[in-house]
Amino acid sequence: MKRKIIEAAERYVQETLRGEGSGHDWWHIYRVNKLALTIAEKEGADPFVCSLAALLHDIADEKFNASEEAGLQKVSLCLTEHEVTNPEKQHVLEIISTMSFKGGNSTGMKTIEGMAVQDADRLDALGAIGIARTFAYSGFAGQMIYDPDIPVRNTMTKSEYRNGVSTAINHFYEKLLTLKDRMNTEHGKKLAESRHQQMVSYLDVFFSEWEGIR
Ligand code: ADP
Ligand code: NI
Repeated sequence: MKRKIIEAAERYVQETLRGEGSGHDWWHIYRVNKLALTIAEKEGADPFVCSLAALLHDIADEKFNASEEAGLQKVSLCLTEHEVTNPEKQHVLEIISTMSFKGGNSTGMKTIEGMAVQDADRLDALGAIGIARTFAYSGFAGQMIYDPDIPVRNTMTKSEYRNGVSTAINHFYEKLLTLKDRMNTEHGKKLAESRHQQMVSYLDVFFSEWEGIR
């Protein structure tokens, strides 16, 4: 029964996100699901709830919906259609709404399942995959790879982004390098540490090559 529900959720997400070009394609969902299950196993979290929340976490994103509420409604309908029990449905919805809540006043994850899924989503922004996603997103948004005249810094307003003031390299400093200190679970922290080191090494090589040193 649970296997059938997961497969139906996979099909639903594949159809909904097909051809998405900004880094939220099906394969992002695939990786977050795998990572969430890896973390769930280590942390003793419920794999069914983790998997459903991981698979559906970007369906409610405001980028694809009129509002966050409309997006959550979509997820809710999908869960009801597939006869997920009410407590599990409420749990998945709570995880997804906490994850889509951008900004500083988020209350944080309440359950180990939520912590595992949020860690998994953050991990997919780090390491070799994270580097690839950053440059893919930058191309999509029309940002430059790097511009030495734009000093790297860790604060950037929305309008600066829109006006193309930021660069792909700056995104590491304003976000990616800060993520390892925001992981929820022990296993998530461990995975983030090694992905963080990958990015630090990458940036080191990048700046050497920029100056023709290597
Ligand atoms: P998610 O919702 O999956 O956590 P986001 O929508 O914030 O991710 O971003 C999708 C991908 O694009 C991530 O890998 C992220 O690091 C990257 N990204 C987001 N904003 C920028 C930016 N301004 N410059 C470069 N990459 C970005
Ligand atoms: Ni995501």
